[in-house]
Amino acid sequence: MSQSLTTVAYLGAAILFILSLGGLSNPETSRRGNLFGMIGMALAVLATVFGPGVSPSGIAWIVGALVIGGAIGLYAAKVVKMTQMPELVALMHSLVGLAACLVGFASYVDTSLPLEGAEKTIHEVEIYVGILIGAVTFSGSLIAFGKLNGRIGGKPLLLPARHWLNLAALLVVIWFGRAFLNAPDVQSGMLPLVVMTVIALLFGIHMVMAIGGADMPVVVSMLNSYSGWAAAATGFMLSNDLLIVTGALVGSSGAILSYIMCNAMNRNFISVIAGGFGSGGGKPAAAAGGAAAEPQGEVVPVSAAEAAEMLREAKNVIIVPGYGMAVAQAQHTVFEITQTLREKGVNVRFGIHPVAGRMPGHMNVLLAEAKVPYDIVFEMDELNDDFPDTDVAIVIGANDIVNPAAQDDPSSPIAGMPVLEVWKARTSIVMKRSMASGYAGVDNPLFYKDNNRMLFGDAKKMLDEVLAALKG
Ligand code: TAP
Repeated sequence: MSQSLTTVAYLGAAILFILSLGGLSNPETSRRGNLFGMIGMALAVLATVFGPGVSPSGIAWIVGALVIGGAIGLYAAKVVKMTQMPELVALMHSLVGLAACLVGFASYVDTSLPLEGAEKTIHEVEIYVGILIGAVTFSGSLIAFGKLNGRIGGKPLLLPARHWLNLAALLVVIWFGRAFLNAPDVQSGMLPLVVMTVIALLFGIHMVMAIGGADMPVVVSMLNSYSGWAAAATGFMLSNDLLIVTGALVGSSGAILSYIMCNAMNRNFISVIAGGFGSGGGKPAAAAGGAAAEPQGEVVPVSAAEAAEMLREAKNVIIVPGYGMAVAQAQHTVFEITQTLREKGVNVRFGIHPVAGRMPGHMNVLLAEAKVPYDIVFEMDELNDDFPDTDVAIVIGANDIVNPAAQDDPSSPIAGMPVLEVWKARTSIVMKRSMASGYAGVDNPLFYKDNNRMLFGDAKKMLDEVLAALKG
């Protein structure tokens, strides 16, 4: 394939990626968005493999790698459960970071390019920065993977003088950067490059270890952004325009998502990434080890039949789904209950918290899969004022996102995070299996409120019983 044809294909792929991002901004157009992305990526891969940058003898290697990588990807997509998606995404981000590091080292030792003067310096800056971003993304994403699948605890690790440690790391990286650029040959440049890589790896670990459980949504989107910048850096190293454009698209959309997440959780972006959400500085006491007040009182359990009775008598119902609905795969029963209630003239709406579940848009995806109409699914801000006029608010496997301590208890780790005010409804029903806390590890005083009822059990099983009682 000639250079000009490759350029046209790259342009087409870049346009498709932009259309893909546009499509993904809305559940109704998201399928089309995904399709655009898939076509764009196929075009990009074909144009690269058959483009002028790859010699015919290299194609066999690439096809071999594509087959192995594709098979692993296909297998992962088949076996990974929906609830494991966030971990998988974190793992994928780590691979982008690793690729950036490997490409960086390979570009450095590859002396086939006769670069001199400013061109050589620019190329070395690209390598240094590319490996830096790649290493932070790699180790940070691995820690995020561990935190998301529960192998690493959610409690933030707060080293003494951690901000000074980070600053010192930055200064050392700059210092070694200078040594790297001044190195006369590859052998002497390797030491500063390796030292910087180790520091960047440690920084990535430290950065994510210092972030508390409830702040993980911001970390996931932030690492998404980093992986984009790592890909863009790889594009610079390989002089591949499409990789630069694609990386920048992922990097900037991830940064916008992180900003939206921070707003949704009422967090300051810098304080989140500087480590330990809510640690000191007048912010909530999560990381500072502040103990949240323990809820007092008694909980009132109800049966599925009693819950169905309350729903049948209601005029206005708001359903608040959370991570537990995803675990139980209860979305289809939720849809059937919604249909049944709507047929009886009940006004049923869904309230979606921006960080419900374990990944951005998690609940919207599940509800769309179950064919819940989009026009009854609302963002938190759109219906939070409507709870006082609601007869029954039913919370399905959600916990942190409906925790009143976020508003009432300044010592709570989730203090200040906006939540769905389900306790303001005439009655709230919380469906979960036990009194266990949610992802942030915080007790929930909602369970003890006078107007709250607990429907204990697996969400799918209990909702099946509620549905049977409603139809019976
Ligand atoms: P959580 O606060 O994690 O609460 C989920 C609840 O579901 C748990 O308390 C659990 O209680 C219950 N549950 C689990 N399996 C169940 C089942 N089979 N049937 C019924 N209930 C079940 O979830 P949330 O309210 O959706 O809040 C999300 C949390 O995750 C926030 O802290 C958020 O910061 C964090 N987070 C979000 C993201 C994104 S991007 N959305 C990413 C990482 C972390 P039982 O064990 O008693 O059943």
